[in-house]
Amino acid sequence: MTESIAVSSGKGGVGKTTIAVNVALTLAKNGYKTLLLDADLGMANAHLVLGVNPEKNLDDFINKKIPISKISYKINKNLDFISGGSAVHSLLNLENSERYNIIKSFNDVKKTYDYMIIDIGAGADASSISFMSAANKIITVLVSEPTSFADAYSLVKASFLDEKIDNFGIVWNMSNNNFQAKSHFEKFRSISTKFLDVKLTYLGSVNNSKIIKQSILSRKPIINNHNTKEIEYFDNICKNLKNLKSNKNKSIKFFEE
Ligand SMILES: Nc1ncnc2c1ncn2[C@@H]1O[C@H](COP(=O)(O)OP(=O)(O)O)[C@@H](O)[C@H]1O
Ligand SMILES: [Mg+2]
Repeated sequence: MTESIAVSSGKGGVGKTTIAVNVALTLAKNGYKTLLLDADLGMANAHLVLGVNPEKNLDDFINKKIPISKISYKINKNLDFISGGSAVHSLLNLENSERYNIIKSFNDVKKTYDYMIIDIGAGADASSISFMSAANKIITVLVSEPTSFADAYSLVKASFLDEKIDNFGIVWNMSNNNFQAKSHFEKFRSISTKFLDVKLTYLGSVNNSKIIKQSILSRKPIINNHNTKEIEYFDNICKNLKNLKSNKNKSIKFFEE
């Protein structure tokens, strides 16, 4: 079975795409067949972080009915990528039925992949929540800012109340150190679980790093640089993903069993 993992956040700019791309590359490096889907509709930019320029994207699937298997782009032996394209305005205004079609169509490739990582839009709008509820597992990215805290709480609350999503894996990004990240996570957990019947699992932190910033600017993922210690952040997150529980909410899923 393919494990689908949606990478979400309350607010934008916290590093969702950076985390999604590097987690996908790390899983692929570890030998897992992986598909990275850029579903940040209307703001798709994972291709820039990966440093590729795929000819086809989700727009071709929606408007030209090209099958999912034919719009994916090979990044390496184990990693395929589906680009959200750029400025595809029609995707922003997707009807529920069209989102349903996108989610359903992944059944065609379910034998192909061990993991699918989905980079979704920030916030708790209908598009983000429907992609979250279609995935087995959720990663939510936070940074140590009150706005990130408040918006992530709103996202957890909306997805719990609307879709009964109750397991969230938290990645703390742009932290000063793991100790600070963990203590901020504990604060976030204690507030969230006080009011909502949810479980938050700490997956790890990624420090604020010049090397990561530079890798985005140069469009060369850090994974290609074997000597950097930044790789360890993502190895750790991928290891901890195994301890994250799947959500059992009733909703249409990416890969029906
Ligand atoms: N750990 C980090 N250290 C330094 N810069 C980072 C880190 N994570 C993300 N960034 C920077 O933050 C910006 C936003 O990241 P991005 O992944 O595009 O966020 P999002 O997808 O949430 O909007 C990017 O310019 C990226 O270079
Ligand atoms: Mg992004």
